[in-house]
Amino acid sequence: MKLFLSLLGILFIISFVEANDSKICQKCHPLIYGEYYQSSHRKASTVNDPIHKALWDKHPKNAKGYSCAKCHSPSDLKALNTGVLEYNEVQKEEPISCAYCHSIKDVEEGNLSNTNILNGKKREFYTAQADKKGNPQASYETKSSWFGLVKESRNSPYHKIDYNNENFYNGNVCMGCHSHTDNEHSFDISMLDAMIDKNDKNTCITCHMPQVIGTKVTIHETKTHAYHGIAGIQHRTKDMGKYIEFKVQKNAQGFELKILNKSNHALFGQSFREGVLEAKIIRGSKVIELKPYIFTRVLGKDDKEVMPWNANMSIKDTLIYAKKDIMFTQKLQAGDKLNLTLGVRRISKQKAKELGLIKSKNITKVKVLKTQTFSF
Ligand code: HEC
Ligand code: HEC
Ligand code: HEC
Ligand code: HEC
Ligand code: HEC
Repeated sequence: MKLFLSLLGILFIISFVEANDSKICQKCHPLIYGEYYQSSHRKASTVNDPIHKALWDKHPKNAKGYSCAKCHSPSDLKALNTGVLEYNEVQKEEPISCAYCHSIKDVEEGNLSNTNILNGKKREFYTAQADKKGNPQASYETKSSWFGLVKESRNSPYHKIDYNNENFYNGNVCMGCHSHTDNEHSFDISMLDAMIDKNDKNTCITCHMPQVIGTKVTIHETKTHAYHGIAGIQHRTKDMGKYIEFKVQKNAQGFELKILNKSNHALFGQSFREGVLEAKIIRGSKVIELKPYIFTRVLGKDDKEVMPWNANMSIKDTLIYAKKDIMFTQKLQAGDKLNLTLGVRRISKQKAKELGLIKSKNITKVKVLKTQTFSF
């Protein structure tokens, strides 16, 4: 009964507050909301992401206006439909809202970028749950037993759930925004180079939204829920290291490092991003630091570096695709230990300086993905 009354209370609040949709979800999905609030998706707007703001400030303006809205703040309908960017609640609180992602019905492929097709329905959401796939859409049901003394409920009193959208099972739901972002010269400036294959063991969702401890909803306790903070550069970075493998082989010149990438996309392809490999040899009480290897893609035109919107070529590409071999000319001796650390910077120090972002310290910090020591 108490639960029923509190539900009525929530529904009452909901019918009056429609402005910040995601805040409504918080009532019943507090853990997921808390994670989402720290995620790069909640922080994708110019208000919340200093790097995005700096780039947009420098970006040439034209009649289309804030064209970034399509992926960075699609929940702000004014920005999306008119290109006029103004400070408002949506930009701050939910530029990519809970309801937005959960309403993506399909992804239409396009030359310059893909486009999300929404179901256009309020309070009808898609999700993936293998044991409910094939069932009809789930609506709220209550069942009384013991002459009405015990009330049981199933599904959500606030929304319907559709478990049959394949895009939520294979990861394609992410590809409306993450597939490619081409500039006017048809050059991809936020390259992921992803290939979704139905035989893959992992998907965008299992790697970046792994199941973590805690209930997905308050009304029915579950042990785990999908992590909505998004594992990656900003959160749970070390967990991502398990999808990257190192193999070291000694040779006559020194040694060769093979990096195997078990994800289905290139690593560090976003403009100005930088992967950093640090290597040191521990020889007795001596530590020999080797020159760090930088994984990056430098965008250019006529062989000169230019801003992403002017680029039509890569003038340098040291990214990790399926695998990467790196040769080191430092000879290894018996008894040596070789320590390798792979990390990632959201933006290189040089670019942070050029964009006037040196005050935002954390953005150039190396976040460690993996560290491993080999003995010889
Ligand atoms: C009044 C409480 C309530 C509110 C508000 C609410 N939900 Fe739910 N939601 C539930 C319940 C209950 C379930 C069913 C979970 C289950 O089947 O065990 C659910 C399930 C879901 C699921 C599917 C989870 C699964 O695996 O079955 C998604 C996705 C979802 N909600 C999204 C949202 C979004 C987005 C919002 C805000 C726009 C929202 N919910 C607001 C109660 C709520
Ligand atoms: C087709 C979708 C799409 C459009 C349109 C788009 N972006 Fe992005 N942008 C993304 C995605 C996806 C990422 C995350 C990529 C990653 O982390 O590899 C991103 C990341 C970024 C980043 C890096 C943010 C960070 O904190 O690391 C910047 C800066 C950026 N975009 C600027 C812009 C600007 C400026 C515009 C508009 C002129 C724009 N983007 C338009 C999809 C898009
Ligand atoms: C970037 C897109 C995106 C955003 C934003 C997003 N979700 Fe999800 N959500 C997903 C995907 C994809 C899944 C399916 C995960 C899976 O396969 O278990 C999911 C799963 C869920 C589930 C089921 C959890 C489970 O473990 O099965 C709930 C409940 C949910 N989301 C609620 C929310 C709420 C509430 C918000 C906002 C606070 C939100 N989502 C924001 C993409 C998103
Ligand atoms: C097998 C696990 C795995 C799968 C599957 C996977 N990823 Fe990743 N992803 C990673 C790892 C590891 C990184 C590197 C760590 C980082 O940069 O955050 C990464 C990085 C990223 C980044 C940041 C890239 C950058 O520019 O630095 C984005 C965005 C991303 N993945 C999106 C996706 C999308 C979308 C899919 C589905 C098409 C996907 N991932 C599938 C493991 C995976
Ligand atoms: C509406 C567009 C949109 C959708 C849908 C979307 N993303 Fe993103 N994603 C973005 C943008 C924009 C950014 C960059 C935000 C920023 O930093 O400014 C981003 C950033 C990321 C990052 C890198 C940042 C980090 O913190 O490591 C990962 C990983 C990522 N998304 C994974 C996913 C996955 C997995 C899905 C599908 C479940 C998904 N995204 C769906 C737009 C989207």
